[in-house]
Amino acid sequence: MSDVSDVSDVSDVSDVSDVTPADRPAAVDFRGVTKIYGRSTPREYTAIKDVSFTIADLPDHGEISSFLGPSGCGKSTVLRLVAGLEPQHPPTSGTVTVLGREVVGPGADRGMVFQDYTSFDNRTVLDNVAFGLECRGVSRRQREAEGREWIERVGLDPVRDATKYPHELSGGMRQRVAIARTLILRPRIILMDEPFGALDPATRLDMQDLLVKLWREVQATVLFVTHSVEEAVYLGDRVFVMATTPGRIAGDIRMPAAAAPARETQLEPWFHEQVQQLHEQIEKIESAAHHR
Ligand SMILES: Nc1ncnc2c1ncn2[C@@H]1O[C@H](COP(=O)(O)OP(=O)(O)OP(=O)(O)O)[C@@H](O)[C@H]1O
Ligand SMILES: [Mg+2]
Repeated sequence: MSDVSDVSDVSDVSDVSDVTPADRPAAVDFRGVTKIYGRSTPREYTAIKDVSFTIADLPDHGEISSFLGPSGCGKSTVLRLVAGLEPQHPPTSGTVTVLGREVVGPGADRGMVFQDYTSFDNRTVLDNVAFGLECRGVSRRQREAEGREWIERVGLDPVRDATKYPHELSGGMRQRVAIARTLILRPRIILMDEPFGALDPATRLDMQDLLVKLWREVQATVLFVTHSVEEAVYLGDRVFVMATTPGRIAGDIRMPAAAAPARETQLEPWFHEQVQQLHEQIEKIESAAHHR
């Protein structure tokens, strides 16, 4: 991976050679992807340059890749390119492929959860969660049954909370609604852009546990953007460390799978070691970037 080579002296980038079974296309594949905003204008800015990585589509498994890096390094740009959302999509050069097909726009195979709670204010929790099914023409009876199931799965009360409106919910509850709304559609690929960034630390740990539990159930491939090293280590099977100016992948590291709840994992020595190592690596990447 060419992006890794220029900082290989500062990190023990483990070899994450791809384990995609030969007969399955990768879940997500970036080949030499560059995104220049405001091209040929005075505001021209290269957000990411020559980014290449492959995330395997693991049968009956799926995995979480965390994207970690300083503000402005292009994390949201990468995620939105996968989602096929403008103006990030299309890339200026290079190719973004999802499940073997070049991305041409948004699609039902991908679901996105944003940092800000993106629910409809004038719809109840149940109608928000069932919205995507409604768009697909699923009958009211069936979508309400499935909606209630998902409300329960994300830890809300399928009776009491179902009739509430978003303004009657806490931040954590709203984010549970956003997750249910996305997962009810069973996307193969879930894109999460700092979904827990606005939550208090305790709620955040609860949400991390919830995600690990749901992820085991739905077996989707998750791309998870975060500023938190702890979150990246806990949730990630793999952590991509990004560097800035221009945005690029500077490290690609395998992590042990989350086996215990976040609060317990955070007490384990290996967890501290991984977090410490990643902090050191990020510092080196950042100081290398300042001296370029
Ligand atoms: N629509 C846009 N037009 C012009 N420049 C943009 C646009 N979107 C992002 N950028 C620039 O591209 C760079 C990468 O932005 P991006 O949002 O991908 O960063 P990020 O890593 O998600 O940052 P943060 O952690 O703050 O969310 C930034 O310098 C940003 O100013
Ligand atoms: Mg961002």
